[in-house]
Amino acid sequence: PAPGWSIDADVVVVGSGVAGLTAALRCEAAGLTTVVVTKARLDDGSTRWAQGGIAAALGDGDTPEQHRDDTLVAGAGLCDEEAVRILVTEGPDAVRRLIATGAHFDESEEGGLELTREGGHHRRRIAHAGGDATGAEISRALVEAVRTRGMRTIENALVLDLLTDAEGRTAGVTLHVMGEGQHDGVGAVHAPAVVLATGGMGQVFSATTNPSVSTGDGVALALRAGAEVSDLEFVQFHPTVLFLGPDAEGQQPLVSEAVRGEGAHLVDADGVRFMAGQHELAELAPRDIVAKGIMRRMHELDTEHMYLDARHFGAEMWEHRFPTILAACRAHGIDPVTEPVPVAPAAHYASGGVRTDFHGRTTVPGLYACGEVACTGVHGANRLASNSLLEGLVYAERIAADIAASRAGNTLHARTPRPLPPAGRPGHPLLPPEARFTIQRIMTRGAGVLRSASSLEQAAEALQRLHADARDALDEQGKTAEPGVDTWETTNLLCVARVLVAAALRREETRGCHWREDRPERDDTAWRRHIVVRLNPDRT
Ligand code: SIN
Repeated sequence: PAPGWSIDADVVVVGSGVAGLTAALRCEAAGLTTVVVTKARLDDGSTRWAQGGIAAALGDGDTPEQHRDDTLVAGAGLCDEEAVRILVTEGPDAVRRLIATGAHFDESEEGGLELTREGGHHRRRIAHAGGDATGAEISRALVEAVRTRGMRTIENALVLDLLTDAEGRTAGVTLHVMGEGQHDGVGAVHAPAVVLATGGMGQVFSATTNPSVSTGDGVALALRAGAEVSDLEFVQFHPTVLFLGPDAEGQQPLVSEAVRGEGAHLVDADGVRFMAGQHELAELAPRDIVAKGIMRRMHELDTEHMYLDARHFGAEMWEHRFPTILAACRAHGIDPVTEPVPVAPAAHYASGGVRTDFHGRTTVPGLYACGEVACTGVHGANRLASNSLLEGLVYAERIAADIAASRAGNTLHARTPRPLPPAGRPGHPLLPPEARFTIQRIMTRGAGVLRSASSLEQAAEALQRLHADARDALDEQGKTAEPGVDTWETTNLLCVARVLVAAALRREETRGCHWREDRPERDDTAWRRHIVVRLNPDRT
C-alpha cells in the first residue's frame, strides 16, 4: 500500500534486540540521524529471553584462538574463518563496551566476571547476568541507554518492504504501525542505510524457544528485495527445552545449557546417562550432537522426552544461579530441586539468514543485516552456544562504523524511492492469519530435527498448496487476505519456510544441525559449500 506518512533519517534500524540497539546507539554516537523501528515493544524480541550468556575469551588462560577453535568445530566445516576471527578477537572489547553502556554481569568473589561453560566450549567463557537472565539484563541496559539519549523510536511497527531507488540502492522501508499516534497505519522511513536486526524465524515451527514475534520478517523482506540469503537449512534445535506435552505449541521455556555447564546430567527414564561415551564432552558436546543423542534415545525407548537431572545442585544453588529456570519449571508443576526435569529438543536458532560481508553489508547496496537475521558466516552449520549475543554486538558495531565511514566519504545520500507494487502481489500473495498454524505443523512434521527427502518433499508440496490457494484467490477473485500484522507475519513465515525446505532438500547430507535420515553421512566432497538463494525482486 502507498505510505500515508514518511519521515527522513540517515539510518533506520529495524529491530531492537542486542544487535539492533547496539547498531542504533553506535550510529547515533557517530552523529548519524537514526530511527529505531520495532514490531512490538523495544524489549519484546529474542534477546530478552537469552539465558546462558555471552561467550568471549575473557577468562584467565583463555584466548581468542581457543574460542575460534571451538566455534569452528561446532560449525562443522562451514564457518567463514575470517568472520570467526573477527568475532573472537573483537568480542572481548565489545563485551567491555556493553558493560560500559550499563549492563551488569555476575561477578565472582574475587571481583572479576563469573564465567560458566556451555556445550562445545572447552573453557569457562560465558559471562552471565542475574544468574540465568543475561538477555533480560542486556536488553534493560540497551533500552535504557536508547531512552536516556532521547533517540527516536517507533514501536508496534512491522516492517513491510525495502524501498529502493532507480539504481536498486536502498532508500528506506515501509512500515505498518499500530496505535503510535502520528505514525499510525502504513508509512515509510526514508533513509539511505537500513539495518535489518529483526531476529529469527523460530515461529516457523510449532514448538520453539523463540517469542511470538520471531516470524522471519527480515529474511522475507530481504528475499522480496532480491538480497542473497544463505544457509537457511541450518536450524538449530536446542536440546533441553522443558517438555510440556507432545502437542505444546508456541514459545516453550528454555532450560539453559549452563545448567549442564554447572554439572547437570542428561538421563533417560531409568536414570542412565546416555551421553556418556558418545562424545569426549558428554552432555557438553556441541548442541547438534546432544540434540541427536536425545532424539536417538527417545526413538530407542519410544518416549517423547528425556530428563535433565540437577537435584544434586540443591535448593540454594538453584535459587541463586538459575532463578528464571527454577520459576518456569515450578510454574509448570515441576520442582528441579527434588525431581529430574523433562526435556526435549525444540527449534531455537537460525544459523543462516541474509548473507553479509565482514561489515554487515548485504548484496543490496545500503542494506545491512546483523544478529540472528544475518548470515555473517560465523556459525557455519551449527552455532556454538552463546555466540549469538556476541555476534550481534560485534557486527552491529562494524555496521555502524561502515555507515559512519560512508558519511565521512560523502557517499551517504538520500535516495528517491521507486513506488512499491500493492500488497498481495502475485509472487507473494497475502495469507490469512490462521495459516500460521498450518505452516508450523507442516514444518515440524517435515523439516524438524530429523528430516528425509520424503518428509521434506511432503512439506514442500503442502507449503506450495498454501501458496497456490492464496495466489488463486488473488488471481481469480482479485481477493487477498485483509492486510494487517498477523497477515504479513503469516505471509513472511510461508516465504521463509518454502526457502528453508528447498535448501534442506537440496543439501543431501547430514552436517551440523541439518540431519537427513536418508543421508546420514557428512559429505565434504560434494557439500562443503553454501546454498545461497536469491529471488527476483518482485516489483511489478
Ligand atoms: C542457553 O542458555 O542454553 C542458550 C544459549 C544459546 O542459545 O546460545
